[in-house]
Amino acid sequence: MRDVDLIRAARQLVETDSLLGADTMPLGTPLDLGSAPDRAAVPSEDMKFARNRSAPAAAAPRPRPTAAPARPTVAASPQPAALSQTSIHEPLPANDMSKSDKAKELKKLEAEVTKWIEANWPRDGWTNVVFGEGDPDADLMFVGEGPGADEDRLGRPFVGRAGQLLDKQIGAMGLEREQVYIANIAKTRPPGNRVPTPEEAVLWLPWLEKQIETIRPKVIVTLGATSAKYLLQNMKLAITRERGNWKTYRGVALMPTFHPAYLLRQYTKENRQRVWSDLQQVMDKLGMSK
Ligand code: URA
Repeated sequence: MRDVDLIRAARQLVETDSLLGADTMPLGTPLDLGSAPDRAAVPSEDMKFARNRSAPAAAAPRPRPTAAPARPTVAASPQPAALSQTSIHEPLPANDMSKSDKAKELKKLEAEVTKWIEANWPRDGWTNVVFGEGDPDADLMFVGEGPGADEDRLGRPFVGRAGQLLDKQIGAMGLEREQVYIANIAKTRPPGNRVPTPEEAVLWLPWLEKQIETIRPKVIVTLGATSAKYLLQNMKLAITRERGNWKTYRGVALMPTFHPAYLLRQYTKENRQRVWSDLQQVMDKLGMSK
């Protein structure tokens, strides 16, 4: 085994620790996914969502990323089916972009969304736009809910306590954080760390869709109930029941799992094993050795 593989295997051993409740370790050659370059305690995902759902349901216009949509208003809560710009059954458009073209496209998109947010989004406590980061050509993409305080401060997704756990999970899979792509439904921190509302999500989702269309990952892992509900357009999705079951988002395999912040709050061996088994399914799907 080459030194670099030995070091990587040793790191995986350390990172696949009791945090994951793992009983097997990924020791093989990690998948080549391209070149390497807290939220604090919150109520349970489903409880948080239940609060949002009380908003009235009325059709909302579908914004396109290039057109600046109107500032969200609470009165314009959309129907679940209108939450996403595109049907989840519609396959992603063909995309034969090179990695550097994808990187350029994501940069352009980030500049666009930042400009739009700064002009349109209510200044309700957020500091930085958190667009997403990682390998523009990643096979694996993680989607969370929205930035917390640390992410808002640094303008980067998953860098707080939940992010540290996510990093460990990624490491346990035999990957570097820089080999995956990490994004959120919300691109700015929701006030008081609340869940993005449906009327906000209808404005955020087209940007996330553009990110997914550009990256074209082979697998999406949704972290927590919110990202699974909004991406799958299933507002009734119960994460405790649906995690670990493969779904499809526009032709892409999607694995819903618990949010790392939830895992930190409910840090039981069973929950750690559940998440680890979800991630092992992802590794299987991507042909990664375990
Ligand atoms: N929780 C999320 O859902 N996203 C982040 O970026 C950080 C915490």
